[in-house]
Amino acid sequence: MESSILNRITHLIQEINEHNHRYYILDNPVMSDGKYDELLRELQQLETENPHLKQSDSPTQRVGSRPLSEFESITHSTPMLSLANAMNTQELRDFDKRIRKDIPDENFNYVIEPKLDGLGVELVYEDGYFVSGSTRGDGITGENITENLKTLPSIPLRLRGDDIAIPKLLEVRGEVFMKHRDFEQLNENRLKNNEALFANPRNASAGSLRQLDSRITAKRPLIMHIYAPGKIDGIQFKTHWDFLDALRKWGFIVNEHVKRIADIHEAILYYEKFEIAREDLAYDIDGIVLKINDLALQDALGYRSRSPRWAIAGKFKARQETTTIESIEASIGRTGAITPVANLTPVALGGVMVARATLHNQDEIDRKDIRVGDVVLVQRAGDVIPEVVKVIPERRLPNTIPYQIPTICPSCAGPINRSDDEAKHYCRNISCPAQIAGRIEHFVSKRAMDIDGLGPRSIQSFLYKQLIHTIADLYTINFDAIPDIEGMGEKSAQKLKASLEASKQQEPWRLLHGLGISNVGEHLSKLLMKEYGSFSKLILASEEELIELNEIGPIVASDLKTFFANPQNIELIKTFDSLGLTMASQIGEATEDLIFHGKTFVFTGKLESFNRDEAKEMVEKLGGKAAGSVSKNTTYLVAGPGAGSKAEKAIKLGVNVLTEEEFIKMMKSINE
Ligand code: IVH
Repeated sequence: MESSILNRITHLIQEINEHNHRYYILDNPVMSDGKYDELLRELQQLETENPHLKQSDSPTQRVGSRPLSEFESITHSTPMLSLANAMNTQELRDFDKRIRKDIPDENFNYVIEPKLDGLGVELVYEDGYFVSGSTRGDGITGENITENLKTLPSIPLRLRGDDIAIPKLLEVRGEVFMKHRDFEQLNENRLKNNEALFANPRNASAGSLRQLDSRITAKRPLIMHIYAPGKIDGIQFKTHWDFLDALRKWGFIVNEHVKRIADIHEAILYYEKFEIAREDLAYDIDGIVLKINDLALQDALGYRSRSPRWAIAGKFKARQETTTIESIEASIGRTGAITPVANLTPVALGGVMVARATLHNQDEIDRKDIRVGDVVLVQRAGDVIPEVVKVIPERRLPNTIPYQIPTICPSCAGPINRSDDEAKHYCRNISCPAQIAGRIEHFVSKRAMDIDGLGPRSIQSFLYKQLIHTIADLYTINFDAIPDIEGMGEKSAQKLKASLEASKQQEPWRLLHGLGISNVGEHLSKLLMKEYGSFSKLILASEEELIELNEIGPIVASDLKTFFANPQNIELIKTFDSLGLTMASQIGEATEDLIFHGKTFVFTGKLESFNRDEAKEMVEKLGGKAAGSVSKNTTYLVAGPGAGSKAEKAIKLGVNVLTEEEFIKMMKSINE
């Protein structure tokens, strides 16, 4: 009876471990989750009923066990060394030269591997069974974290022996780490539970391995890749490559990017390739490791005090560094959003000097408790603006105070506030000088109104000299005053004037884009204008109607409504209209053939048969433009009863004045 239970237990262990191997090591599962759970439950049941039959390679070990009171220390049977660093390709070449000098007559090749950025760990197997595991510690002694390591699915509890002999003693070394996605998920959960966040995957891995309660470690998504031997008894290899091969057969994970290469040129290509490819890897690497493949040559080259002579780490440029926050300023964006920005003591990050880092918003500052004067860890991830990862609390100076975003706008002295559902603070004064400059820069930019000859410096000086206060003021600038402005002579002024004039003909999507409504960029501006054809119609669109459109969600719809609900913004749009900017799309290419093409109408006084908007629409349909005020560009003024100053002005300027009846006749004649 007992022997049949033992047989069943052994069978279950074997089957579950086989599944684990296929799932975690080979990434090629064949068993369903349901079946797996069923087998695991059966095994747990049998083990609970027969505790004396529990096996040391049972997968039930992986859930963790009772917490320890402390970690014991373990002395490594051979020291866990570190690697000498090469900081660039030249230093890699120097390494190769040194080796050629030391072993001049030998032909050799290399194995190259990613340098995994996690924690060095040693595993010990006796007769194929995992017996202990430890951290690297100081290289001589580390901490016994056996119980924690047992919970890692990528660490076999018993070596596989189908294709390879099981040595009496096998010590292997590798790196424990976490993938980016798992790290982010872990931090997200911690944020929800109000727990302190880990600064990076490496810290998260370290924190997870250092748990006295292995049941916690069991819940952390740790992975281990093996890359080096410790002491081995009972099997010998000729090359590092053969050793890596054996590791796979025993059931370990060897990094998929390890490669056997012919020479240093190939090594440098790999190094350069991976410095770029690291951005797309699922986990952090901080360099490459170059190792002589032939183990006899490794022996011949030997060791320095703390590192082998036969290997070198080719380091990538650091993307995380510590530096000091010299000051924090509230930077005001074009939309009025306030972003706190830290001015840093300049520091090299991933090959570029960094002097500023975004602090995102007040919540982020509070969460990380970032203060002026703090020493902080900054990082650059991909092309994103550098950010502060965390404060180094040990280096905080006395008497620092928490940072608060100011309540008064540093640019216009207006109030800064934040609504409940927003992370950002805003200065909502649309005439805020800090915003105006940015808004104008955006308005004139190539992809918006494409107005030439107005760089940030001219904008600043126009604002400074009070030539403009709003975007619309650009169109009424007193160009006689321009030669006074530094850097802009008469010629440039005339050029700018012409460019502004020409911009009146820009398609309305450009104007919409130029307004800089939050979340409404070039693409959506085109889409909206295609859909609505004119500002007058777009302004009237309800939120519900907007959401109905493909690609427009509730956020954009609400941003549009908020923008158009602001009287100052409507005023601005009206001013654009009266200045003669194109407020409605021309209908197709045929507009040039339409009878009102090139003609501008202004309506004034009371109209009988239609309202202003309808009149405007009719004019636009026939290829004309409808403006709000009379100028020398007006072709016709349509005047109803009660027309006042506009009619007078039209007469003065020699503009044709039509009655409503005449206007209708004119259209009818066209329709005939
Ligand atoms: S070999 C005697 N290979 O880098 C050579 N180490 O700076 C032992 N590391 O302590 C190390 N990836 O924690 C080796 N593919 C790799 C590695 C690697 C990461 C770590 C390891 C070591 C440190 C040395």
